[in-house]
Amino acid sequence: MREDGDSWDVTESVGMTAVGVAAMRAAETARPDALFQDPYAEKLVAAVGSGWAKLMSGEVTVDDADQARMYGMASFMTARTVYFDEYFAATSAAGIRQVVILAAGLDARAYRLEWPSGTVVYELDQPKVLAFKAAALADDEPAADLREIAVDLREDWPKALRDKGFDPVNPTAWLAEGLLRYLPADAQDRLLADIDALSAPGSRVAINTWSGVRAENSELRAAREEMLAKAGLTIDVENLWYDEDDRTPPVAWFAAHGWQVETTDSRTLLAAHGREVPDIADTELLRHTLMTATRP
Ligand SMILES: C[S@@+](CC[C@H](N)C(=O)[O-])C[C@H]1O[C@@H](n2cnc3c(N)ncnc32)[C@H](O)[C@@H]1O
Repeated sequence: MREDGDSWDVTESVGMTAVGVAAMRAAETARPDALFQDPYAEKLVAAVGSGWAKLMSGEVTVDDADQARMYGMASFMTARTVYFDEYFAATSAAGIRQVVILAAGLDARAYRLEWPSGTVVYELDQPKVLAFKAAALADDEPAADLREIAVDLREDWPKALRDKGFDPVNPTAWLAEGLLRYLPADAQDRLLADIDALSAPGSRVAINTWSGVRAENSELRAAREEMLAKAGLTIDVENLWYDEDDRTPPVAWFAAHGWQVETTDSRTLLAAHGREVPDIADTELLRHTLMTATRP
């Protein structure tokens, strides 16, 4: 359950989800046919030292049925990582040098992507999450001018962003990956409006959105909880979401505000990259939308 003003580090509540997705990036990176390389993911997950690391190292083994249940989610994480990596390659090629990663969590793009010189990457997340990542990657050099902004995204983050040097006159590449469901609907609406208000012509935004209802998925949800419990992880992701299903769909919102919107789904993206996914992954893969939009 969530509360106004709640906060967390990487071992609890919403912070744990940042570790979970990093563990899936580490697992993809280790594959011989990996679709991307995130060498920082394993390091970050190991530094947390939690059950995620045990799952990753094989110390806690899961059976075939568990693997099948995880498959859809892991495939979705791979798809979204590839999609947003390609998005940033395109924004850099288009000359955008101001990047804002909302809810950066353990995203290591500031370290692992090739940023043209002069690129500033702003990372926003909860104070303890960013402090953990900075400490774990203290020996690593960011590949851009990285500016961390410790802030609650339900509060006045645009002011914190400007205070660190963000200039709305310049075009921006925004990313909100794995964030929206963790915000109350009114904070999501404010976030979309703030992105719009701070975006010069030529700015772009990338977001993943989820179109499903929890109840449909209760069996999968219970099975996932049981599997994670084997690694000592007590987490029910859906329980960390704000329970408001009437929230504004970002695709429609950006289109209505004059942005040129493009969407795809994870299955199509993975197929385009030669990754075959078994049908069992479909339920998960097809209920997420990957979206980019450009302000003309
Ligand atoms: C599922 S993780 C995704 C992290 C990262 N974008 C990625 O894909 O690897 C969700 C992230 O959202 C952050 N987050 C959620 N609500 C937030 C809030 N109100 N303020 C700041 N960060 C928030 C969490 O701390 C966490 O890092």
